[in-house]
Formats: sequence, structure tokens, C-alpha cells
Amino acid sequence: MLQRPRRNRKSEVIRQMVQETHVTAANLIFPLFIIEGNNQKSEVSSMPGIYRHSIDNLLREVESCLKLGLKSFDLFPNVAEVLKDKFATESYREETLYLRAIREVKKEFPEACVITDVAMDPYSSDGHDGIVENGVILNDETLAILGKMALAHAQAGADIIAPSDMMDGRVGYIRNVLDDNGFSDVSIMSYTAKYASAFYGPFRDALNSAPKFGDKKTYQMNPANQREALIEADLDEAEGADFLMVKPALAYLDVIKLLKDNTELPVAAYNVSGEYAMLKAAVQKGWLNEQRATTEVLTSIRRAGATAILTYHAKEVLENKWL
Ligand code: PBG
Repeated sequence: MLQRPRRNRKSEVIRQMVQETHVTAANLIFPLFIIEGNNQKSEVSSMPGIYRHSIDNLLREVESCLKLGLKSFDLFPNVAEVLKDKFATESYREETLYLRAIREVKKEFPEACVITDVAMDPYSSDGHDGIVENGVILNDETLAILGKMALAHAQAGADIIAPSDMMDGRVGYIRNVLDDNGFSDVSIMSYTAKYASAFYGPFRDALNSAPKFGDKKTYQMNPANQREALIEADLDEAEGADFLMVKPALAYLDVIKLLKDNTELPVAAYNVSGEYAMLKAAVQKGWLNEQRATTEVLTSIRRAGATAILTYHAKEVLENKWL
């Protein structure tokens, strides 16, 4: 044998020398859930270690993350049922929880990168990402609401707008609204290939945002499809997206790789709530080694081609020095 691949695995020093993929704090984006109130911190039961924070607590959480070198945050609001309506009007009300949170974080920590979620579902009495009429999710009518929401986020100080709704044409629509209002520097991280996945369950628990009827299959992608992701990628690129995102991550590593090979834009991946819950549940049962399983998951997502990873593990991997 002239070639013995094991020679490059024989010591820790050599293994590290030939390691192809790394995960660093700079690659991580931490999703944070927000609720109304003072000094509130309520754990999401299906996501051990993940909390809904009132704004004062959110600021403390952001501060402790910044100290760890974790600088990018994706915010999501838990909206009281009484504030929801068919048109998600609460989403762009000047004093709504979400906009206050963005303003406060950017005021206290201008160095933090604030990513905001544009979608109707947390504010919709139907629990859908678009306007519902006779059981149908309207596309073009929804764009106007998404545009208002994105503009409100930009005015509040958002660095990156992340539309997660999967309406056709929304990236271009939002790009135009932002540009027309003097926000040409605000970026768009598009949920390009967002699948109608079973792995969003715990997130919907966290926000109480599950659809009131039906499912999201007329707008989110069929988990069986890969080529369709290229259509979405071409459109988002042409419409002005700055990042293309794949969601979920773990069951879709092939899609991350596919987009990576077909775009020059950075590719992001969302390691979603159900993926987090699955790992934590197995750890709690004593069935997996937490540190090894967590770092393997994040490394795999990077290896597949993701530049940035949105993950609920972001803080713990830095806190525990697992990277
Ligand atoms: C809503 C949205 C969802 C997630 C992010 N934005 C849920 C959904 O589409 O129903 C899921 C994130 C996660 O599961 O961690 N537009």
C-alpha cells in the first residue's frame, strides 16, 4: 500500500492540520424569542434552554452573547392572541413589541447585527404567512403587508431583513420598498428554499403561531424536491437578495450544497427548532453525547456549504467552549 489515509489521522496535531471545515462564532446567528412584560423569561417546553424574553431580559441576553463573541441575532415575537387579525396590522404598529425590541437592541448595542423576520404568521389570526380568503393564501395582496413590515423593521434599525413567508416576488417587492425609502443599505437574507417541514413544531409552540387550519404546503416547498430550490435561488438572486437561506438544515444538506454550487451569494442555513428539540431530547435520555453531537451537527452544515448558521445552539457552544 502506497496510500494509507490513516497516516493523516494519527495524531491530534495532524488531524487538526488537515481539518477542512471549522465553525466559529462569526458563522453563528442566534434566534431569540420575545414576549411582552418585565423581567420575564419563560422556557419553551419543547426547547430546553431556550426562553421567551421580555425586552429588558432580551438586552441582558444580547449583552452576554456579545461578550462571548456572538454578534448576530434573529428576533421573533410572541404576540398576544387579542392583537392578531387577518391582516397582521399589529406587525407594523409603531409601538408594537417587536419594533420596540429592535430599537432597544440597536440603541444599547449598535455593534449587534439585528436580523428581523418578515412574515405574517405570528400576527395573523389565521396563523398563516399570507392573507387568507376562502381558505386560499393570497400572494400579491400579501406583498403589500410584507413591504410595510420590512419598512417598519428598517426604520427601527434592522441590519438584515429576513422574509420567511415564501410568497412569490416578495424579495423584489421588499427590495423596492426599502430602496424607495432610503434604506438601500439594509440587506435581505431570503428564506430561499423553505420547506413545508415537520421540524417547525417547537417554534410554533414558542410563538403560539401554528396555522389555525390546513398546512403551509401551497407556499412552502415540498420536502421531496431539490430542483425547485434552483428556481427559487435564481429568482431571489435576480430580485436582489444578499443571502440565500435553506431551511431546515439537517434533512436538507443536499439542498445547501446545491445552492452553494449554483450561486456566488453566501448561503445560510436554519438549524430549526425541531432539529434542536430532537438532539436535546436524546441528550436528556442519555442517548447522545451532547458536545460531540452538537458540534458534529454544526460542522456538517458548514461542510455542506453554509456560510452562516441560524441555530439555537449558538450561545451554548460558545459558553461551553465546544468549538
Ligand atoms: C414563520 C417562521 C417559521 C420558522 C421561522 N419563521 C415557522 C413556520 O414557517 O411555520 C421556523 C423556525 C424554527 O422552526 O426554528 N414564518
